[in-house]
Amino acid sequence: MAPPLHPHASACGKVILLGEHSVVYGHPALAAGLPRSIVLEATALDEPTAPSTLRVDDWDLDLALTVDNGHPVARAALEVLGFCDGPLRGWALTGRSHLPARAGLGSSAALTVALARLVLGEDAPIDEVVEASLAGERVFHGEPSGIDSQVAARGGVLRFVRGEQPEAVTFPGTLPLVVIPSGIPRSTADQVAKVRALHGRRPRLTRPILDALGVTVAEGIDRLQASDLQGFGEIMNVAHELLSALGVSSSPLDSLCSVAREHGAAGAKLTGAGGGGCVIALAPADPDPLLGTLRARGLSPFPVAVEARLP
Ligand code: PMV
Repeated sequence: MAPPLHPHASACGKVILLGEHSVVYGHPALAAGLPRSIVLEATALDEPTAPSTLRVDDWDLDLALTVDNGHPVARAALEVLGFCDGPLRGWALTGRSHLPARAGLGSSAALTVALARLVLGEDAPIDEVVEASLAGERVFHGEPSGIDSQVAARGGVLRFVRGEQPEAVTFPGTLPLVVIPSGIPRSTADQVAKVRALHGRRPRLTRPILDALGVTVAEGIDRLQASDLQGFGEIMNVAHELLSALGVSSSPLDSLCSVAREHGAAGAKLTGAGGGGCVIALAPADPDPLLGTLRARGLSPFPVAVEARLP
């Protein structure tokens, strides 16, 4: 019989600081965890053979976890629970999250990591949790690079290369960001396919762009470790232009970057797959005018202080 679930589990969301898209081609990426982005609670149902349920009101999710439920979240959740040899029936799972879903902030990896931890426990070996999360992530993303699951499970700031163990990056102080969800939906798979198609047609043009995106990661880590946030901001700006050259920005994302810079942000860039999703800006010394302008446009930006966690 499957073991009972733990009563609570949590996981991080993520922002990719530098290196999205080039990471797919073997270059490094730099990503940061957003702590306790989801908290799940498990309660045994009175009827142990009844289908389990998953409810996250913040994401408008209320699902029966049955194999014939065509909802990808139900399929992914069952994949994760099955991978961990957890119970597939008899539990009510409820979650709370302050992250917007489907915005490139790693909500699906956060959910799958938290589900794995409901079975395996909060202190389970990270590699096992990541493997279980990836079983669910494949339902959403086909062949994900794995960066989201690694950050969701580990937190802190990670240098990630596809197929390698991630490295925790440490630096003094914090990196103050403003995360700006554009409210525009996007599909990671579509944006990755768009870059792949361009790369197929124009490899001599795209290769140096992807190489330069890879270099932003080394330079960015260097600037963080030197406590040079202005320099890090400059690298964010370059990264945004390189991503634009790959075709994954859009005029709304470009405009959000401009608004952030006009309000004193030393750097701003799209984060994640692009097309829509989020922009991140280095927080200006006084972020309130920027936050106010964005809120007046009906957006819901939020400040985040990225902190390196000692490995
Ligand atoms: O799914 P998102 O928006 O967090 O971004 C994925 C990042 C990519 O590098 C574009 C794809 C990947 O699998 O790493």
